[in-house]
Amino acid sequence: MITKPKGCHDIYGQEAKKWQYVNKVIDATMEKYNYSYIRTPIFESSEVFHRGMGATSDVVTKETYDFKDRGDRDMTLRPEGTAGVVRSYIENKMYGNMPQPVKLYYNGTMYRYERPQSGRDRELTQFGVELLGSDDPITDAEVISIPVNIYKLLGLKEIKVNINSLGDDESRNNYREALIAYFKPHIHELCEDCQERFVKNPLRILDCKVDKDNPLLQNAPSTLDYLNEESKLRFEKVKEYLLALEVDYVVNPKLVRGLDYYNHTVFEIEAHVEGFGSNNVLGAGGRYNGLVELLGGPSISGVGFASGLGRLIMALDLENINLPIKDEVEIFCMAVSDTEKNYAATLVQSLRMSGFKVDMEYNNRGLKAQFRQADRLNAKYLIILNDQDLANNELKVKNNKTKEEVTLGLDYLLYYLDEALIDEDDDSAFTDNCYADDCQDDHECSCHHDQE
Ligand code: HAM
Repeated sequence: MITKPKGCHDIYGQEAKKWQYVNKVIDATMEKYNYSYIRTPIFESSEVFHRGMGATSDVVTKETYDFKDRGDRDMTLRPEGTAGVVRSYIENKMYGNMPQPVKLYYNGTMYRYERPQSGRDRELTQFGVELLGSDDPITDAEVISIPVNIYKLLGLKEIKVNINSLGDDESRNNYREALIAYFKPHIHELCEDCQERFVKNPLRILDCKVDKDNPLLQNAPSTLDYLNEESKLRFEKVKEYLLALEVDYVVNPKLVRGLDYYNHTVFEIEAHVEGFGSNNVLGAGGRYNGLVELLGGPSISGVGFASGLGRLIMALDLENINLPIKDEVEIFCMAVSDTEKNYAATLVQSLRMSGFKVDMEYNNRGLKAQFRQADRLNAKYLIILNDQDLANNELKVKNNKTKEEVTLGLDYLLYYLDEALIDEDDDSAFTDNCYADDCQDDHECSCHHDQE
C-alpha cells in the first residue's frame, strides 16, 4: 500500500468539516479587522527564507525542504508565511502603491522537516497576518488580539498569552553581550546545539528544547533588564493597549522566539488543556522592523503572527467544544426508472441553483435502499419521483423527520421547499458575527441572541 509521507495528514469526513468551519471563522474575523487575503507561492528562492528567518535559526539549519529545480535554481518549500509575504510586499511595491499600513492575511500549508509527534508535523497549516508599514505599538497589541479573539470565538477558554520585548537593536545587542558573559564560564554544561548557538546566536540558547529545564537557562539574565528607555516605553505602551483591548497576558522575560527577525514585542499563545503535550503553542509572532530591509526593501516596520490550524483543532477537541457543524442535506431526490432519473437530473440541478443543498441517488438502488441512503446522509426532505406522478405534473415530498408526505404540483415545489426550509439558513449567522448554531451555550460570540 502506498502511504502518505511521515508528518502529513489526510483530512476528510467530520475532521474536514471542522477545518472548513474554522476557516470560515478565520475569514469572517479577518474581514472584520479589514485584512486582505494574500496567496504567495508554496516554494520560493531559498534565500527568501534562509536570509529572512536567519541562517542560524533551527528552522533553516535543520528543517527546510531545500531542493534544486530542473533549472538548477535553489528553491525551498515555505516553512512559514512571513518571509514570503514580505518578499511579495517588496516585489509588488506595496509600500508605494497601497495605503499604509498594508494588512495582509494568509492561510496555507507550510513545510518543516521536523521529528513528527503530536502537534508537530512536516506538512502544517498556518493562518496568520502581517501588518507592514506602521511602528505604532497599537498594531502590536491589535495583532496579538486577533488570534486571541479567533480562539475565543471558537469557544476556547484555556489559553495563556505570553509576551516579552527584545527591544530595539541597541537593547538586543546589550542583551546579547550579557548572555555571552553569563554563559561563557558554563559553556560545557550546555547541549551540543547550544554550544554552537553560543557562538552564532546566544539568544537562541533560551529557546532550546533540550536544555529548557536546565537551571542555567532559568537563571539567565532577562531581556527586560537590557531594554533602553525608548524600548521600555514602547513595551509599556503595548501593554496599555492590550489592556484596552481586554487581552489578558503574562510577561515572560525568557520568551525570545526561534526566528532571527524579531525585535521589540514577541508573543506566544499557549493552550492549557490536559492532554495537549509539550507542543502547546497555538500561535506566535512579533515585531520585525528590520526584515523588509534585510530582504532588499526600504526601511519599513512590520508585525504579525501565525497560528497552527492542526494544533487549534486539537485544542478544540481536547476542550470538548462541539463546533456547530451541519452534517446533513436539505433535500434527497429519489428516482428509479430512466425517466424518473432523467427528470431528477434536471430538478436537482435547478434546486441547487436556487440555493438548496441537494443530493440524489447515483447507484441505481431500489427505493428501500434509497430511503436508507437518505437517512445516512441526514436528509431533511425527500423528493420521491415516480412516473405516474410526473405524468400528472406532480411529485411527492416527504419530511424525513415527521414522515409527513404531500403530493405537490411541480410548479408549487420551490415555494413549498422555501417555506419548509426557511429557518435553516446558516449563513446569516456569519453576518451577525455569531458562529454558534443556536447560541444557547457558553460560546463567547458577540451575538446577543441570549440577551434578547
Ligand atoms: P512559528 O512559531 O514558527 O512562527 O510558528 C507559528 C505557529 O505555527 C506555532 O505556534 C504552531 O502553532 C504552528 N507550527 C509551527 N511549526 C509547526 C509544526 N511543525 N507542526 C504543527 N504546527 C506548527 C512563525 O511561523 C512566524 N512566521 C510567525 C510570525 C508571523 N511572526 C511574525 N509574523
